[in-house]
Amino acid sequence: MLNSIGLENPGVEGFIADELPFLREKGVPVIVNISGNTAEEYSELARRLDGVPDVSMLEVNISCPNVKQGGMAFGATCESAAGVTRLVRRHTSLPLTVKLSPNVTDIASIAKSVEEEGADCISLINTLLGMAIDIDTKRPVLNNTFGGLSGPAVKPIALRMVWQVAGAVSVPIIGMGGISSWQDAAEFILAGASCVAIGTANFLNPYAIPEICTGLEEYVTRQGASSIRELVGSARA
Ligand SMILES: Cc1cc2nc3c(=O)[nH]c(=O)nc-3n(C[C@H](O)[C@H](O)[C@H](O)COP(=O)(O)O)c2cc1C
Repeated sequence: MLNSIGLENPGVEGFIADELPFLREKGVPVIVNISGNTAEEYSELARRLDGVPDVSMLEVNISCPNVKQGGMAFGATCESAAGVTRLVRRHTSLPLTVKLSPNVTDIASIAKSVEEEGADCISLINTLLGMAIDIDTKRPVLNNTFGGLSGPAVKPIALRMVWQVAGAVSVPIIGMGGISSWQDAAEFILAGASCVAIGTANFLNPYAIPEICTGLEEYVTRQGASSIRELVGSARA
């Protein structure tokens, strides 16, 4: 998938008033993904969400390619990634996961920088920059020229980056990027992710997540493990 959807949302007050009640009913932990145009906007969101009932964790998105300022720029260098993490950390007692951009040369160093500033967890990867051209109009298909590439095409890159980050940090990792089957999810776990996230696959198969959960449970049993935790990072031994 090549998307340029931006970060469509009702704003933090709209989220708390209108969307959180629905999520609360589901009885699962709610992780709120936040993004801003400036480091101060990130910290303001963190402060506002701190202590809101049933928000379990903040995911600091320093990797969105579809916003004009901020977004991916914060995830592009160790200094800016560390700076946003430090400021957000000061404004919330909630657990923090920082979501990294794959559009960098050394993702392990960026992961280490945010870990040093108090990230409790690292999420990766966000989308890769991509583009398409309409050969009839001879113009880029997306208004923004570039968009975010996700889905099965990015899986080997995401897996490689999870592997690299797992070798560099000691905090847990939420791995994602192209996972569409339980086998894909198992690869991320074996590479060192403690948890996985599924995005694009949901557009193709609304049952992707329950199918992946069932497949993983059966895999854990076949492996003779008592918990999936025993398999985290097993491919690295
Ligand atoms: C339509 C769409 C919207 C997305 N919106 C967000 C977002 O708001 N915040 C974020 O951190 N990542 C966002 N992402 C990135 C995904 O969460 C995920 O990191 C990426 O797509 C790779 O995983 P996947 O291949 O399973 O989709 C979005 C991806 C897609 C396709």
